[in-house]
Amino acid sequence: MSASTENVRRLSVVDIAKLYADGQRIATITAYDFPTASLVDEAGIPLILVGDSLAQVLLGYDTTVRVTMEEMLHHTKAVVRGTKRALIVGDMPFLSYNTPDEAVHNGGRFLREGGAQAVKVEGGVRSARVIEALVKAGIPVMGHIGLTPQAINTIGKVRVQGKSKDQARSLLADALAVQEAGAFAIVLELVPGQLAEAITKRLRIPTIGIGAGAGCSGQIQVITDTLGWGDWTPKHARKYADLHGTILAAIQSYRADVENGSFPGDAETVLMDPEVLDEVLGRSADDSPSREPIAGIPLDRDL
Ligand code: KIV
Repeated sequence: MSASTENVRRLSVVDIAKLYADGQRIATITAYDFPTASLVDEAGIPLILVGDSLAQVLLGYDTTVRVTMEEMLHHTKAVVRGTKRALIVGDMPFLSYNTPDEAVHNGGRFLREGGAQAVKVEGGVRSARVIEALVKAGIPVMGHIGLTPQAINTIGKVRVQGKSKDQARSLLADALAVQEAGAFAIVLELVPGQLAEAITKRLRIPTIGIGAGAGCSGQIQVITDTLGWGDWTPKHARKYADLHGTILAAIQSYRADVENGSFPGDAETVLMDPEVLDEVLGRSADDSPSREPIAGIPLDRDL
């Protein structure tokens, strides 16, 4: 079903649970703005994350740690306005869910002000209390374990999580803690494929993998990686388009056309009645440069 269908309704976490129960893999992607979100919705993606990857992808920050609640809300609202069907998850930014009270306050803002239907928080065992409080308050939660980019200052660098025995055990414990706390789904980021599959088999909520292999219940990608919009593609991503190349070539053509005078042409120019102009300039019909009708945008067209 595409969002262009009449009578579309917004999906809920119950619909996501149904997709999971039916064994349908859940295609999830990030979006941060109105036009992109509209296309994602039209393509029939059921679950959209307004990720805090907004920080690097759209706002030019170096890490997700820098993005604020206000910035996240601003973009969440745009994504919600651009969509009719997809369930929208707002990503709770660094330090916005340190305590259960803060989490409920800020999570509530994503739903009430932002119009999202759920939030995402990073962390397993360490975030269980916060997830429980959010769920109790009526705020559906997507968990996120494995690589948790908001912890970049403690983990040092982006790397696969869970390769050693200890790490694998603690990831399994994290996944179970997130599930028991009431999350409706859980992102597994940069986790070895076999471990992600084993975790998926032990849970009764869907796992949404990114760099975690095909054994998860669904996949999530950062949209600019999928569209080839950035200047590099991470190993776990597949480029389905080359927007970087397409946009660059289009802007270069535009620049060339402006510089060589071929843009705008007649088709892109609005014309007025030449007699009106003659009168304004106080010139006679004979002085007028041309009395011939010129092709152009009709006078009565709304621009
Ligand atoms: O912020 C984000 O885009 C994410 C995904 C990578 C899961 O958290």
